[in-house]
Amino acid sequence: MKELEINLTHTSYRIIIEDGLFDHIGDYIKQIYKNNKVFIVTDDNVAKLYLKKVTTVLEKDFTVESVVIPHGEASKCLTEYSHICEELLKKDIRRNHLLLALGGGVIGDLTGFVASTLYRGIPYIGIPTSLLSQMDSSIGGKTGIDFFGRKNILGAFKQPSMVLIDPKVLNTLEPSEYISGMGELIKHGAIGNKKLFDLLDTRPGVDEEIIKESLSVKKKVVEIDEFDTGERMKLNFGHTFGHAIELKYGYKHGVAVGIGMRMALTMGVDLGVTDPLAKDTINRILDKYGFPQVEYDYKEYLADVVYDKKNIAGTINFIFITKLGEAVIYPIREDDLKEKENECNN
Ligand SMILES: NC(=O)c1ccc[n+]([C@@H]2O[C@H](COP(=O)([O-])OP(=O)(O)OC[C@H]3O[C@@H](n4cnc5c(N)ncnc54)[C@H](O)[C@@H]3O)[C@@H](O)[C@H]2O)c1
Ligand SMILES: [Zn+2]
Repeated sequence: MKELEINLTHTSYRIIIEDGLFDHIGDYIKQIYKNNKVFIVTDDNVAKLYLKKVTTVLEKDFTVESVVIPHGEASKCLTEYSHICEELLKKDIRRNHLLLALGGGVIGDLTGFVASTLYRGIPYIGIPTSLLSQMDSSIGGKTGIDFFGRKNILGAFKQPSMVLIDPKVLNTLEPSEYISGMGELIKHGAIGNKKLFDLLDTRPGVDEEIIKESLSVKKKVVEIDEFDTGERMKLNFGHTFGHAIELKYGYKHGVAVGIGMRMALTMGVDLGVTDPLAKDTINRILDKYGFPQVEYDYKEYLADVVYDKKNIAGTINFIFITKLGEAVIYPIREDDLKEKENECNN
């Protein structure tokens, strides 16, 4: 069993990482919740695999209600949001009841958003089941849904009351979901934790300790920058180019991030910011975990980066690795970037 605590200005919460935690999950919930009714929100994939088991265990201590929605990003929408709220109200949820978000990042974001708005806020516990949600999205308190064709555009910061992780459930993940989560995991090692890198190098697969080390990177950033105004930007390493190639080639997000990291490493070395040794090590780990051994010429993507609507006009904040486990926010003026882009069009 491994444990972490997130300490923020107005709240703190525990994260428990334990193989086989699902066998006695009620013990942890009882520690912080004194009511007798819980409400699970999950998706159909996760429900097929784990809902019966989790419900049976919880029923030793609680009355259990559940809402099951279709899996996939498309469910992070207003329709499913209102569907969940409606079902919960039909099942007579009260403001002092507890929501349990059982699933991947989609369920976490959506359930967290419901928890932040229903009755102006009710408590929820994250029970992440995908690799991405276990090593990243379940902490930090960003919740929300997609709307108006834009990702995560409606949302709120809402911290969970606790996060309960059973790494054993990763055994049932589709390989494509696994590698996508690995992209963000390798990113955490690259930007903030050399020890995580050593573990990724020597262990056969993801385990309790790897998840803990990955979450500790996010913990550090979130504690410094709870509301995403600066330091959290470092989590975008690999994403600037990653987003561009995700759009162009349709790679899964985490895979695109992996390739985006390869591109940012090359650009960082070209600029003299990145230690070439760090570039080689990160690329080697990406190879080990099955990332495509392709790299697109970053100069050809600078224009996409400049016109990305997320960027504030004038300056673009790149994230580069200096040495393994350390990242910097590196602002480059748009005009300077255009010059670099022209260099490659000569
Ligand atoms: N809040 C944050 O800080 C944050 C950070 C990163 C990403 N996100 C969000 O997370 C979402 C992506 O999360 P995701 O990759 O977990 O996607 P997801 O929730 O869609 O899960 C991926 C797939 O795996 C299935 N699944 C989950 N656990 C399983 C298990 N143990 N066994 C078998 N199948 C399982 C799901 O049903 C789904 O089909 C995106 O919407 C993204 O915006 C949020
Ligand atoms: Zn990402």
